[in-house]
Amino acid sequence: MKFSYHNPTRILFGEGQIAALAKQIPAGEKVLVIYGGGSIKQNGVYQQLSQTLAEHNWIEFSGVEPNPTVETLDKAVALVREQQVSLIVAVGGGSVIDGSKYVAAAAKYDGDGWDILEGKHRVTEAVPLGVVLTLPATGSESNGGSVITRASTQEKRAFGSPAVHPQFAVMDPAVMKTLPLRQLQNGLVDAFVHVCEQYLTTPQGAMVQDGYAEALLKNLVTLAADFSNHDSDQWRANLMWTANQALNGMIGSGVSQDWATHMIGHELTAFWGIDHARTLAIIQPALLREIIEEKRQKLEQMGQNVFNLNVTPDLAEQTINRIEALYHSLDINTRLADQIGETENPVEMVITALEQHGMVKLGDLGSITPDVSRRIVQRAL
Ligand code: NZQ
Ligand code: ZN
Repeated sequence: MKFSYHNPTRILFGEGQIAALAKQIPAGEKVLVIYGGGSIKQNGVYQQLSQTLAEHNWIEFSGVEPNPTVETLDKAVALVREQQVSLIVAVGGGSVIDGSKYVAAAAKYDGDGWDILEGKHRVTEAVPLGVVLTLPATGSESNGGSVITRASTQEKRAFGSPAVHPQFAVMDPAVMKTLPLRQLQNGLVDAFVHVCEQYLTTPQGAMVQDGYAEALLKNLVTLAADFSNHDSDQWRANLMWTANQALNGMIGSGVSQDWATHMIGHELTAFWGIDHARTLAIIQPALLREIIEEKRQKLEQMGQNVFNLNVTPDLAEQTINRIEALYHSLDINTRLADQIGETENPVEMVITALEQHGMVKLGDLGSITPDVSRRIVQRAL
């Protein structure tokens, strides 16, 4: 185990914390508030924000779409430059936060912003960023990752940099009250798969990372079983904090990580607009079945420690069944064919895109070549 771990995001957690936002922003900053399609105007978040920022100099940019596009975000980049914005506050879910990270980074770069997603420009500076989280799922509120879509080419790519790690994140579970059930289900599944990507690898004897990952997975299994109580303050707070801890860098420190499910999933969203979490529920069970021998030991550990299964010769298989059953219990469809309409050759579309994006040795062991990905997508069909 060898790692450097630093999470600089100050978390302001709990009901009413939006009021504390202003204290995080020095007077004199030129603030740009970025948000999405308007849910914050319907649920009182915008109003709370206006109150707390009453003494600040701020402007706004709205219309960041789910799976945020570079086409929309580049307009915000222009605004940041024009108005000499010195701090960005992202108010929304993963899409708005990721989009704001792109804006923060692209505003400090003279070339085409998409270079950042193609790895042609490595981000080392960005406009400082803060977050008001409205949808617990991605962990983007306290990590340095971002996933951006280019609509014109149907591509969805990721970048990461400490420079876009948010300085602060307001996490008030009360804002979840207006979330559609679909988004709550998505959030739970996304967080679950985030933990899996960092845990379902090969045994490394990392007791803290394994134990904490198992605690988070058990939380999510419990919250799914208790989904009918999603309207309770405790349920909301537990999902919000669990989803954050799932991808704030801690459980992945010093251990190998996988992320193949995510990389294949991104292609499904790019082509068919399937919600991010739902692409994971489609791909992950198929992937685990396809490369079960690589994952057998950790699947067995997960089966015992998360699902309380008995040790049997097919424990790993049973664990995958339980993971899939968890998604089904949340009304999530795990078959690709049901969600892509009349597409000719969907499997080859995905494989070609993976190849174009250099995703040819996926997984923690690099064993998921395009041929293996083809079998995975075929299984998921
Ligand atoms: O745009 P508005 O009107 O705000 O509506 C949003 C959007 O339509 C709505 N919503 C959010 N908060 C709400 C609300 N509606 C009512 N009440 C509220 N309190 O929910 C819809 C979906 O929002 P979105 O931000 O797209 O969802 P999510 O948080 O699941 O983010 C998904 C994006 O994050 C990326 C995904 O690829 C996808 O683009 N990811 C980012 C990661 C990261 N940065 O670390 C990791 C993840 O693996 C993921 O890839
Ligand atoms: Zn995810």
